[in-house]
Amino acid sequence: MDNNTVGLRSHNAVIDRVFEHIDNRTTDLGHSQWHEPVEHYVSQKRYEQEMTLLRERPVVFCPSAAIPEAGSFVSRTAAGTPLLVVRDNDLRVRAFINACRHRGMKVASGEGCARTFSCPYHGWTYNLDGTLRGVPGAAAFPDLEQETAGLKELFALEKGGLVYVQQEGSPQLNTLDTALDFFDSTQPLIHQSNTVDEANWKLLTETLLEGYHIKSLHRESFYPFGLDNINVIESFGQNSRVVYPFKRIENLRTVAVNERKIEGFATLVYHLFPNVSVSVLSKHTSVTIIEPLSPTRTQMFSYYIKHRATSGKEISHEAAMKDVDFVNQSGQEEDRAAARDIQETVTTSANSHLTFGLFEQAIVRFHKHLDEELSGG
Ligand code: FES
Ligand SMILES: [Fe+2]
Repeated sequence: MDNNTVGLRSHNAVIDRVFEHIDNRTTDLGHSQWHEPVEHYVSQKRYEQEMTLLRERPVVFCPSAAIPEAGSFVSRTAAGTPLLVVRDNDLRVRAFINACRHRGMKVASGEGCARTFSCPYHGWTYNLDGTLRGVPGAAAFPDLEQETAGLKELFALEKGGLVYVQQEGSPQLNTLDTALDFFDSTQPLIHQSNTVDEANWKLLTETLLEGYHIKSLHRESFYPFGLDNINVIESFGQNSRVVYPFKRIENLRTVAVNERKIEGFATLVYHLFPNVSVSVLSKHTSVTIIEPLSPTRTQMFSYYIKHRATSGKEISHEAAMKDVDFVNQSGQEEDRAAARDIQETVTTSANSHLTFGLFEQAIVRFHKHLDEELSGG
């Protein structure tokens, strides 16, 4: 699905909107402030409600490019469940609970490419479609029904270059009505990283969703290149898009409208509710899954995918990696440090709530939708 179908502006309209803001010294504004109780960043109860939400809807697990061929797999814990996601021999993506049906050992670890999964404990083996393939000393299990002893399968769906997994309940396909097409199958994964921070997952998410802090927090990293607090902010479904223009977007003023391209002149950050971001940069797009490990600890898994060739010209691996390094250097570390700092103050008596203003409307929407989902509204 393209941007226009879900009501997002075209790239050209975004560029015009940025010029409007620069000329009028304005930025996109929300309608109201939001006050988020500090308990929501530490409470075990709130955390468990959020984990239930993450298990009961399709959530991005990885980009398709992370499992490009038959047998490619990624295993990791998502919302508290060890998962194994694999592309089977028919190239269909399947998701399983990564637990052997004998005594529960994880049958896969990390990621890679396999023909079968063999449990490291006693060697039960499973096919790529999860069916049980072999049991050493099968005579010792007279009651075993091979047909029903395959890996426990979960709902998985591949859409627009992303793999979604829903762990519990009937598939909430309506939440994918606004799922955009981000990648085609020709775009390779060029890099991966993951980080762990002592901070609630929502604090790390919030850092991605407003440009009010560019000048003060990113003075040396992003501010030399980026405009401070000039953003185009839109929503689609429960998701948002925040556009962060670079100073050099001024160069586009003299370029014919049909020749303008936004890549290289702004970063487009898509927040896929609740816990995923997709950032479109100059030469690559990154997908980050913000995975809660506890109320105060979060792991972020990032995948970096090279842009398609533009006007027939392939982007070199080196150029794309330079782009990756630029974002990864200082800027992101500054955001993560801010989230860790805030985690230390939310347990003090300084604030009963964290306050989000009109510049921070994508965060306001995030909390609003989260509240609605958790109260069943
Ligand atoms: S636990 Fe997997 S073979 Fe025994
Ligand atoms: Fe930031």
